[in-house]
Amino acid sequence: MPADGPKRVFINEVSTRDGFQMELRWIETDEKVRFIDDLSLSGVAKIEVSSFVSWKAVPALADASDVFARIQRRAGVIYVALVPNLRGAERAAAAEVDEMNLVMSSSETHNRANMRMTCAQSLGNFRDITTGFASKTITLNGTIATAFGCPFEGAQDPARVLGFAERYLEIGMAGITLADTTGMANPRQVEDLVAAILRRFPELPLTLHFHNTRGMGLANVVAAYDAGARSFDGSLGGIGGCPFAPGATGNVCTEDFVHMFECMGVDTGTQLDALVALSRRLPAMVGHDVSGQVAKAGAVWNLHPSPLLSPAGCDTAAHP
Ligand code: COA
Ligand code: ZN
Repeated sequence: MPADGPKRVFINEVSTRDGFQMELRWIETDEKVRFIDDLSLSGVAKIEVSSFVSWKAVPALADASDVFARIQRRAGVIYVALVPNLRGAERAAAAEVDEMNLVMSSSETHNRANMRMTCAQSLGNFRDITTGFASKTITLNGTIATAFGCPFEGAQDPARVLGFAERYLEIGMAGITLADTTGMANPRQVEDLVAAILRRFPELPLTLHFHNTRGMGLANVVAAYDAGARSFDGSLGGIGGCPFAPGATGNVCTEDFVHMFECMGVDTGTQLDALVALSRRLPAMVGHDVSGQVAKAGAVWNLHPSPLLSPAGCDTAAHP
């Protein structure tokens, strides 16, 4: 970790992509747009708005083009879309996204289940996309999904993950996200892989994407931060998950880790109150409770009136 580096992290909010892709209830386009417009005012660095994938594969995000057409873009916020193939890149470019997030799994088995492609086919698509679409206005980020473990294959060889990172950069991607798609990472492993990738590519714009499937999410965020990571994906309310991975559950909860970083004296650039207010809108939108904790408990600095004070304000706690 850069010991004297600025204590500042950058948040990429993925609830409207990773979160909404899992929801069975259709969320109206206008509702998505209102949510994203309010999110744009919360201080997050990026918003992963939607996915340009097959409507049949992910019906919940079939309105990606409409959502992009209707949101109000704020200066300073980067609007991202997930893209799996050339067709998706064409749609994303037509929607004038700021950044395409090209996703492939480290695990051959998960990539076939999720993208219906071999890793070689995905990489071939990415080469075509970087050749055709890298421009001054579109940044290309590459995600290596299941980088810390695959629900079908188990542990992934770090050398394989680093090899894919190298291929992504050779192809022309500007940044890389390591994704723990189904919450299999543990803090030691995270520390090792983040340190290894930053040793090999010290200038790399690196993002970490964690799921809290087994309760290790926040510990993994801290481990990644300590190893030098400064950019994190998060999902309000902790909603989310991959529809093509068994037992997948939500991302690390944005307002929970923002609150944690604020407690640790690390600036996130965001307003926690605004994030909590947004998170509290989610249960009505998705039709079920969400797992975020700070939206329920409040921040640690929001103290309650002492029950030991009498109505007149005298301290009656004379007895232990
Ligand atoms: N956007 C919209 N439609 C697309 C598309 C895209 N990017 N890519 C392919 N399609 C359409 C094709 O036109 C075709 O439509 P048709 O059946 O009406 O003719 C259909 O999808 C199948 O196309 P094909 O090229 O054979 O793709 P596939 O069935 O092998 O699926 C993907 C490949 C990548 C399109 C599909 O697996 C997918 O969208 N996966 C998304 C997974 C995801 O989002 N996971 C969660 C996030 S990690
Ligand atoms: Zn995810």
